[in-house]
Amino acid sequence: MKFFADTADTAAISELAEAGLIDGVTTNPSLIHKSGRDFLEVTKEICALVDGPVSAEVVALDHAQMMREGETLRKIADNVCIKVPLTIDGLKTCRALTNDGTMVNVTLCFSANQALLAAKAGATFVSPFVGRHDDNGFDGMDLIRDIRLIYDNYDFATEILVASVRHATHVLESARIGADVMTAPPAVIKSLANHVLTEKGIASFTADWEKTGQSIPIA
Ligand code: G3P
Repeated sequence: MKFFADTADTAAISELAEAGLIDGVTTNPSLIHKSGRDFLEVTKEICALVDGPVSAEVVALDHAQMMREGETLRKIADNVCIKVPLTIDGLKTCRALTNDGTMVNVTLCFSANQALLAAKAGATFVSPFVGRHDDNGFDGMDLIRDIRLIYDNYDFATEILVASVRHATHVLESARIGADVMTAPPAVIKSLANHVLTEKGIASFTADWEKTGQSIPIA
């Protein structure tokens, strides 16, 4: 399963990229707002930090204007992936951009039928929001299971990009189900390294090492 960082924080992206932990980045208008940075400038910077897809979202609601915004965004870098909302206008934009060889991420997906439409429109990625689904009394992971089943039934090439990931269990379940990608805030990705027995093990090895009175010579 590929990991994308769901952030526009370039320092956090650099740290994860240096450790080889991420395969791409997703942003949205709220994350751009949180960064306090110019949209085009920060997106260009992010595209240079990772080799994989960097999702940048259009803000127009009608197809014609989405196409114009998409034109601007796709000139930023070869690894830009245009993010469009799961509406009929967004799907029309998805089809037009993918026909032209541009990657498209269809976002704000909350049902398996919506995911079916994204696949029909030739989306590179579909982004079901599991956390927001949970927030509204549904089971976000059931949605991922349904989409996986449907896409496999028909060999759809669209990749399932699990979004709105809030905690480690969302990541684990996504991998169990066979999602293609998950995108999560850097803190969630880093939290996957945490285990109480790892911490206890480090503490006991450190204590025993100190008792040896030795040090490892540094060349
Ligand atoms: O990038 C879209 C998605 O991951 C947003 O997550 O936590 O705002 O629901 P969240």
